[in-house]
Formats: sequence, structure tokens, C-alpha cells
Amino acid sequence: MSSVDDPERRVLELERKCENLTRQLEKVKAEQVTYLQNVSHQLVAPLNAIKWHIENLTEARLSVDRAKKVLRSIYSQSTIAVHLAKNFALMSNLEEDHALTALKEPLQSVPLCPLLINLADDFQPLGWDKSIQIGVDSTTFEKAPPVLVMKPLISQAFSNIIENAVKYSDSDSEIRITGIHDSSAGTVTVEVTNRGIPLPKNFADVFERGFRSPEAKNKYPAGTGFGLYIARRIVELHEGKITANMTKHGFVTFAVTLSVKGLEGKARVRDPKDRTAS
Ligand SMILES: Nc1ncnc2c1ncn2[C@@H]1O[C@H](COP(=O)(O)OP(=O)(O)O)[C@@H](O)[C@H]1O
Ligand SMILES: [Mg+2]
Repeated sequence: MSSVDDPERRVLELERKCENLTRQLEKVKAEQVTYLQNVSHQLVAPLNAIKWHIENLTEARLSVDRAKKVLRSIYSQSTIAVHLAKNFALMSNLEEDHALTALKEPLQSVPLCPLLINLADDFQPLGWDKSIQIGVDSTTFEKAPPVLVMKPLISQAFSNIIENAVKYSDSDSEIRITGIHDSSAGTVTVEVTNRGIPLPKNFADVFERGFRSPEAKNKYPAGTGFGLYIARRIVELHEGKITANMTKHGFVTFAVTLSVKGLEGKARVRDPKDRTAS
């Protein structure tokens, strides 16, 4: 008798399938618990630091200089907390493969230079803690036209790259952000270059979900290995390209290439009069 006709065998097969599915479900549940623990652990760290700095501010004899330093640290830690919270929100969307949900975000014509200057300003106080200077070379963007993108998403992709550059750079170093406009291809490429811990042997591994190199694990703020995965998914949603590279002198460059016309014709373009979207 063939296995299809043998009811006992069929039951056994179904039982085995059921066991497999239960095991898979348990694994996913365990991963979710670990992920949530990681999320809360990471958010608690900057929030605790902020609390501790505020306590410092209440000290009776605090000099103005010291107060300024403490306020700067509060600003840095708040930047980390906001950055993490945005990533966690994006992560839950991407996990569900909500490409279409994301596409509901209207496209906006975004000049990249001011966006990158704002991000650099946001992360600069964190850089000062390690004497790191973040410089946006605005002259390289002079000829670059605005790109049609989902602004909050693209901003978070660059934010993840810049946060890494600050976190993984050597002290007393410089982070350079430059632009390249390729008029014949109709693209703008943004390059973020820093010098610090090395990339893994296979550079592209950094874009895999959860990847963290051993060198990265000793750095503060602690990471999850989701930042560049999120950045890659966002850039792919825009049909752009993201790469990581390292020179033999140890300079690490992340390059993001976006089409000037973006997803024109594929997603809703924001009406300039619409003030509801940021
Ligand atoms: N600028 C960089 N220089 C060297 N390695 C980097 C850099 N940016 C990212 N990486 C590597 O890629 C890994 C993944 O980055 P990311 O997804 O942002 O996760 P996380 O920062 O939480 O570890 C990092 O752990 C690190 O090993
Ligand atoms: Mg990161």
C-alpha cells in the first residue's frame, strides 16, 4: 500500500509535521523574548544615564562649565534613546515585510546636504565625547539635485550609518560625509567615511540581520546588529544601493546611491501643501 493510502502512516507524518511546527514556533517565541529583553536593556541604558546626569545637575555647587558638560551628555543620551526607539519601531514594520505599508509614506523631494548636516549636528555631541569631528563636505553636494524619497525612512538609514561611524571610530578622528552626483545615471551617492574598528572579512556581512563583529561588541552604546539591516532594507525599498568598503589603510566607507527620480510613478508624491507629514 502506498503511504498516501495508509492512514496510520499519514497520521504519523502529520504528527511529525506538527512537532516540527511547534518547535519552530517555540524558537520564534524565544527569539522574540530575547529581542524584547535586548530592546528594553538598550533603552534603559541611555534613560538611566539621563537620570544620573539630571541628579548631577541638582548638585549645590555646580560650575557653569560643568553644568554645560552635563547638559551636553543629556543631549547625547537623548539622541541615542530617540534613535533606538525609531529603529525598534521600524524593525517591527520590516519584520512583517511591510514594504507596501512603508510605500504609503509619501515621497518628498529632499536635498540631501541639509538633511545630513542636521544628522551630523545631532550626533556631534556624542562625537565630542571621543574628540571626533563630523564634517559634511557641502561643496561636494553643490551640483547634487534633491532626491525623491520617503524622508523619515532615508533619514533613519543615514542616521544608522552615522551613529555607527561615531561608535566605531577611533578617538581623535574625523568622520567625512561627501556627495557624488552622477548626472548620466541620474543618481546621488552619499559616502560616510571613518577610521576605527575593521569591517569583517566579507564586508557585506554587516548588512545581515543581527550581525555584530567581535570588535563591535566592546563598544558603547551596545548594539543589536539591526542598524545596517534596517538601512539596507530602506535603501532597497527605494531601489537604491548600499555598500560597505575598507581601504588597506583602515578607512571604512559606507556608500548609499539613490536615484534622483526615486520611486516616481510607484508611490504617492507628497503634495507640497500637505503639512501633515514631516
Ligand atoms: N563604521 C563602521 N566601521 C566598522 N565596522 C562597522 C561600522 N559600521 C558597522 N560596522 C559593523 O557592522 C555591524 C552591524 O552594524 P549595525 O547593524 O549598525 O549593528 P550594531 O551597531 O548594533 O552592532 C557592527 O556590529 C560592526 O561590526
Ligand atoms: Mg549600529
